[in-house]
Amino acid sequence: PSILREDKISEETKKLISSLLSHTDSQGQKLCQYQGCWYYYNTLQGVLNFQRGFKPQDTDIILASYPKSGTTWLKALTVALLERSKNHSSLSDDEHPLLYDNPHGIVPCLEMDLYHESSSPNLSKFSAHRRLFSTHMPLQAMHETLKHSPCKIVYVCRNVKDTLVSWWFFLCSILKIEQSRGVLESLHESFCKGIIYYGPFWEHLLSYWRASLEDPEHVLFMRYEEMKAEPRDQIKRLADFLGCPFTKQEEDSGVVDEVLDLCSLRNLSSLEVNKTGSRNDVDHKFYFRKGEVGDSKNYLTPEMENKIDMIIKEKLQGSGLIF
Ligand code: A3P
Repeated sequence: PSILREDKISEETKKLISSLLSHTDSQGQKLCQYQGCWYYYNTLQGVLNFQRGFKPQDTDIILASYPKSGTTWLKALTVALLERSKNHSSLSDDEHPLLYDNPHGIVPCLEMDLYHESSSPNLSKFSAHRRLFSTHMPLQAMHETLKHSPCKIVYVCRNVKDTLVSWWFFLCSILKIEQSRGVLESLHESFCKGIIYYGPFWEHLLSYWRASLEDPEHVLFMRYEEMKAEPRDQIKRLADFLGCPFTKQEEDSGVVDEVLDLCSLRNLSSLEVNKTGSRNDVDHKFYFRKGEVGDSKNYLTPEMENKIDMIIKEKLQGSGLIF
């Protein structure tokens, strides 16, 4: 997959990389640490291009997450919420973008899709009045670029153990390798050490968590588990934050449930585009698996769980963020 290629890396970036801490993971992929975060080399190039060239607009919306935390779901929900104001007669309209593209195709990732090759990509296809992007960068990587911008950021976080197991399934699928215990164990170790793609996990969470406390008008912190447990409340929270609250009439006519049904794992994964399509060498179907809270229990040993629990407890201590 393109995230693992190294063909777009400039000479300047190669020089920078040679001065950074680096690490080769158990799958043989090279990572380096830039501004506290671990990236595959190709992703670092995208981050640098973004930092050099991105010009935020006041109405931009950025959906942020650690990989495998519910990004696809958040993208679908946001697209469905924003599309309500367009010309669709209803969410089940045949023209709805979610029926024709995977949520990752509709909401491109800044560093992996848009800025991976250049610091001045052509963004003209985005609606001039409201652009919707995504990222897996921690907030500090966007800090300078977004410093004076009132754009809105929505972060979705997920229990680290479920995220780890989800990442294991996804990684083995995209690398086309066997779903082995060995891979899970080495990923677990990497998660615990913090030397993992876009890690450390806790730094990622904390960067957005703190910003959501300091600036709740511009940074919304959502949790996958809460979205599963109380989807109606959480989607309303998201709609309010994005400035497109449900009207009383919409609530009465069942639009909240319509949005949730459209974006459900069951519905999205049954669409042709998500069954057979692919992007950047990744089959769309790999983005949809079980979507259950606590599934990691079926794969992690009690020792593995304890170790993660202890680390997360220690790292998040005093932050007010509880897992
Ligand atoms: P599991 O592997 O635990 O099933 P991301 O979208 O950030 O890549 O995260 C992928 C995880 O979100 C996977 O978790 C996937 O099944 C789940 N997911 C994908 N689409 C979803 C949806 N519409 N609703 C709920 N969960 C979803």
